[in-house]
Amino acid sequence: MQNEPSKPSQISSVPRHVAIIMDGNGRWASSRKKARHSGHRAGVKSVRLSVETAAQRGVEYLTLFAFSSENWARPEDEVGRLMSLFVEALRREVDELHRNNVRLNFVGAREQLNKGLREKITEAEKKTADNNGLRLTVAIAYGGRWDIIEATKAIARRVESGSLTADAIDEAEFVKGLQLADVPDPDLLIRTGGETRISNFLLWNLAYAELWFTDVLWPEFDANEFDNALAYFASRQRRFGNTGEQVEAVGC
Ligand code: FPP
Repeated sequence: MQNEPSKPSQISSVPRHVAIIMDGNGRWASSRKKARHSGHRAGVKSVRLSVETAAQRGVEYLTLFAFSSENWARPEDEVGRLMSLFVEALRREVDELHRNNVRLNFVGAREQLNKGLREKITEAEKKTADNNGLRLTVAIAYGGRWDIIEATKAIARRVESGSLTADAIDEAEFVKGLQLADVPDPDLLIRTGGETRISNFLLWNLAYAELWFTDVLWPEFDANEFDNALAYFASRQRRFGNTGEQVEAVGC
């Protein structure tokens, strides 16, 4: 099963999977007396830098929170511009990602997105499906509670159909219905923009992640900041419920 925390004996000082809550675009724009959408536009550069840095440092999985289930409540104009920005970013970046062996995937309530964006997403996923470099997952129209409810529906259907008994439900069966079923849990969560909360991101998957928060606004997040987060991660002793002595005994 992929979707489980690493065991202490598998721990490396470089996180296999980094998840990022990209926050602070609006404040970055307001502080420059610009409209909020110019902050989102500036944020694309930080996405590019983060992908490059993650790949260079040996991170295998990078998951970015680009648009939450709750973000639909934002002003219509901002939502529309964000959707257009996603289409534009895909049009511009996918060939380069493909050349760099990146496999691109999307998670979230895809049926809520407009047809143009859905088509670009499918195209990007198909084009990069056989790449075996960095696995980049972008969460759009995603919420952690939504994800858990969808997984619950999937397992309820299996019980209804008689292919699974209620007593046979365990973590391994449950995670098969989650959006990141085939990806190991994040080892490190980075959140920019000064807030110290999870905001309904990967609620199940972040159970054992190290959390790193920075005041830096997303458009200013660069390789140096990424390295600060990686250095923090390398300094942590991950115990997964064991004692520090147990972890030291297996040589970590
Ligand atoms: C949060 O900042 C950011 C978002 C809701 C959008 C993130 C989108 C991008 C960075 C665009 C590019 C993404 C991809 C994957 C191509 P905020 O608006 O909540 O900032 P604030 O807290 O300062 O208002």
